[in-house]
Amino acid sequence: MPADGTIKVLLLGDIYGAPGCRALIFKLPQLKKQFNPDFVIVNGENACAGFGLDRDMMSRFLQAGVDVITGGNHIWQQEDLLPCLDSEPRLLRPANYPPSNPGRGMTVIDKIAVINLQGRYGMQPLDCPFRTALNLVREARRQTPLIFVDFHAENTAEKEALGFLLDGKVTAVVGTHTHVQTADAKILPGGTAYITDMGMCGPSESVIGSDPASAVLKQRTQMPYKPVVAETAPVINGVLVCAQRETGRALEITPVSIPCEE
Ligand SMILES: [Fe+2]
Ligand SMILES: [Fe+2]
Repeated sequence: MPADGTIKVLLLGDIYGAPGCRALIFKLPQLKKQFNPDFVIVNGENACAGFGLDRDMMSRFLQAGVDVITGGNHIWQQEDLLPCLDSEPRLLRPANYPPSNPGRGMTVIDKIAVINLQGRYGMQPLDCPFRTALNLVREARRQTPLIFVDFHAENTAEKEALGFLLDGKVTAVVGTHTHVQTADAKILPGGTAYITDMGMCGPSESVIGSDPASAVLKQRTQMPYKPVVAETAPVINGVLVCAQRETGRALEITPVSIPCEE
């Protein structure tokens, strides 16, 4: 970490399909040179054609220089990942799923805590993310003031409310799941960096990652078509957060949105 007592963390939204995986793996070394982050967190729930993350891609993300991978509602969909959720401390699933499910919702790596939670509006009826968050933040703060929360949720009000609940208690609350970057990156009054959704790392010309024609067909027919991944040039979306190392207080949050030519 730099001698000036600050730390920089790069957080990237849902990695979607092969275009998103390729963009992350090829572009991460360049992003590291450009932004010089001390730590990298990505959401990996859509790596396998939109449906979860498999063991091979998990390893490739970690080898490429990702420090922690967070999950979401799709994280359970590749069976070979399930044992990794228990064995790999750099891989998270939302903490408010039943405690008997595989995996963990919080990890502390290099004195940086990462917490993964999931919202309930328009999603599965999980345990209360607000109560779960307070319990985990209390536990994390015994080890470090640097706490980053990925809130994987559909509903803006739910995301903003969690941001204010945790304001001053964590370094950042960042949203994932809706795949479109929101224009509200800010530091909340208590010193927590916040954005409702970081946006995805995936095909730019798409409907949240899927091919527009197949997405339109699905909406018009209301039949359960499996979405096809759009094969257009990817864009990498996320935020760079700079914080005080001693206090965990966020100093700056900068949205990142980088088109990648293939
Ligand atoms: Fe997603
Ligand atoms: Fe999701």
